[in-house]
This record gives sequence, structure tokens and C-alpha cells, in this order.
Amino acid sequence: MPKAARIILFGLTYVVAYMLLGVYLFRLSGASVPTDISGEISVAAGETVFNGLGKCSTCHSIGDEGSAVRCPNFGVDAPRFTAPIGLRAASRKPELSAIEYIVESIYNPNAYVVEGFPKNVMKPINRPPIALDDDAITSVILYLLEKSGIDVTDSVIKEVVTAQHPFRGKDAAGEAGAAPAITFPEGDHEEGFYVFESMKCFQCHLIEGAEFDPGELTPEDLQGGVGPELTGIGAIQTYEYLYESVVNPNAVVLPDPSPDKKYSAEDGISKMPDFLDTLTARELVDLAAYLKSLGTDLEPGEDDE
Ligand code: HEC
Ligand code: HEC
Repeated sequence: MPKAARIILFGLTYVVAYMLLGVYLFRLSGASVPTDISGEISVAAGETVFNGLGKCSTCHSIGDEGSAVRCPNFGVDAPRFTAPIGLRAASRKPELSAIEYIVESIYNPNAYVVEGFPKNVMKPINRPPIALDDDAITSVILYLLEKSGIDVTDSVIKEVVTAQHPFRGKDAAGEAGAAPAITFPEGDHEEGFYVFESMKCFQCHLIEGAEFDPGELTPEDLQGGVGPELTGIGAIQTYEYLYESVVNPNAVVLPDPSPDKKYSAEDGISKMPDFLDTLTARELVDLAAYLKSLGTDLEPGEDDE
């Protein structure tokens, strides 16, 4: 091979290697989810955010649109909610306007916790894992207002942007309060799948697209599933929350999704057993990594080599 050709080939190998490394790091950091829709603040953009990037629809329904029951419905859902979010927001906190309340609920969900729902389930939306930028948040609020029958005029848009001022630009992932106080060791999400299977978590939890070996469980044992579906849970929850769910199920107990399906016993104690005596530390770490992978690029089975 002539020298020039060898040099070019050598150079190309480097370029390809760096490109592959780049793709790998990109996936590791979860950066493949675009969060920047600046320049496009609109109701239509908000609808896309609600059902896509913002993951709101994994937890919230709007009236009879959607099946999410984890969290407050944004439409009318009598007897609990007799007015849609854009209207009931005005009476949540007397010192805040409806729009100010909605803004605060999104950046700081624990500032006011809706009766009957647990705190800590919703994370500040400008921080990981969802980490929307401020413009995307403006749009999703416009969408909620429109869904509440409110006319989204220029002055309404201005009011939303103004209400966001105290929170704007505060999305730095490493900011105090956002980072966990301890460093979790890195788990193997593929091993975690087998932990989920061997602990029979699937007896109570459905994960769309995942199939588990039922072993000795009969189809009756598996009917209905006592717990919430965990499809996509990794994209809406933090590592800390997932760890805690497994070792301390009573730290956060979700409200019953319907009168015939109850997540907790009469005394409010979760029906989920804790796994303190059954899991090794290694299994817990891998299991949390598996849960965290759900709904993300790392999800096993989907283009995972
Ligand atoms: C992991 C589940 C989850 C996700 C994802 C989520 N939320 Fe929530 N949200 C909750 C829970 C639980 C509550 C009720 C507890 C509370 O007030 O914090 C809530 C409350 C709210 C409220 C107040 C409702 C009321 O009736 O006062 C608003 C507004 C809201 N969320 C907006 C959003 C928007 C917009 C998104 C998407 C960008 C979103 N949420 C994503 C769980 C979630
Ligand atoms: C006997 C049924 C049962 C088993 C077995 C069970 N869970 Fe649960 N799980 C529940 C119930 C009920 C809830 C909802 C009540 C609550 O929040 O504790 C829940 C909640 C959760 C949540 C929080 C979901 C959310 O949307 O916030 C996670 C995560 C979870 N379980 C993971 C697991 C894992 C992992 C295992 C296996 C190691 C497991 N569960 C085994 C019944 C079960």
C-alpha cells in the first residue's frame, strides 16, 4: 500500500473511533433527548412537551384523555377535581395567581402538595431526570391553560413568562439540593433485569415490552398486578426514589388508582413488601440500574448491545 494511502487509512480509523466514542458518551449522558425548543413557545409545542419530552402524560391525564392515575388529573375528574387545572389553580394558594401557582408547582412541586397525593413523586421539572428548559415549560403551561378553556392571548403568555422569572436559568444539574448526598455505585442494568425476575417483582408490576419467566407462578397469581405499572419509570424518577421504593416502600405510598384496586391496606401501609432481608447490596444496585434504564436509551432489549 502506498504511504499516502496508509496515512489516510490511519487517520480515518481515528475519526471513526472518536465518532463511536462520541455516540457512546452521548448515550451514557442521556443527552440524546433534545430539550431545547427555544424560539417555539406555543400551545402546540406545549402539547408535544406534555406527551413527549416533559413526560407529564406518564403521570397526569387530562379529563378522560390518558390513562395515568399516579397523579392529579388536569381536567374535571369529579368528585376530586370539579374544575380543570387552569381554573382550580386560582384557589390553591391565596397569595398566588392561578398562573403563579402552576409555575410554582412545576419548578417546586413540594411547595404545595395536592391533598390525597404524596410529595416527592413529582420532581422539579427543570432538573433531571426530565430537565426541561424554561421555554418548554412556558409552552406546556400554555397547553394546560388552553385545555382548561382559557384563551391563550399574548398577555397570558407574558404573564406566564413573568411568573417564571424567579425560577429561570436555575436548571444547573449540579446545583446544591439537586445532587444526591451519597454517591451510588454503578449498577449493571442487564443483571438488574434478572434480579427483578428472581424477586418476582413482575407478580405485582407490569413493564410493557419486558417478559419474565413466571417459574412456579400460575396465571392466577399474575392476574391484575397489585402494584402500578413501571413502564418508563426510569425516565420520570431519580435513582434515589427507585432505591427507596425497594428498601422502604412506605416512604412514599401512591394513592389507590381506583376503588377496586388498592395500593395500600386500611392503615395506609403499602402492599409492597420491603426487600431488606432478601436482596444483597449488589442486587439492589443492579435492580435500581434496571429500573432507571426503563424509558431511556439504555432500556435492555432495545438496540442494546
Ligand atoms: C412522576 C410523576 C409526575 C410527573 C412526570 C409529572 N408530575 Fe405533576 N404532579 C405529580 C404529583 C404526584 C402531583 C401531586 C402532588 C403535588 O402536588 O406535588 C403533581 C402535581 C402537579 C400540579 C398541581 C396540580 C393541582 O391540581 O394543583 C401541576 C400543575 C403539575 N403537577 C404539572 C406537571 C407538568 C406540567 C408535568 C410535565 C412537565 C408534570 N406535572 C409531570 C406527579 C408528576
Ligand atoms: C405484593 C405486590 C408487590 C411486589 C411483590 C412488589 N411491589 Fe413494588 N409496589 C407495589 C405497590 C402496591 C406499590 C404502590 C404503593 C407504594 O407506593 O408503595 C408499589 C410501588 C413500587 C414502586 C414505585 C412506583 C411509582 O410509580 O412510584 C417501585 C419502583 C416498585 N414498587 C418496585 C418494585 C420492585 C423492584 C419489586 C421487586 C423487588 C417490587 N416493587 C415488588 C406492590 C408490589
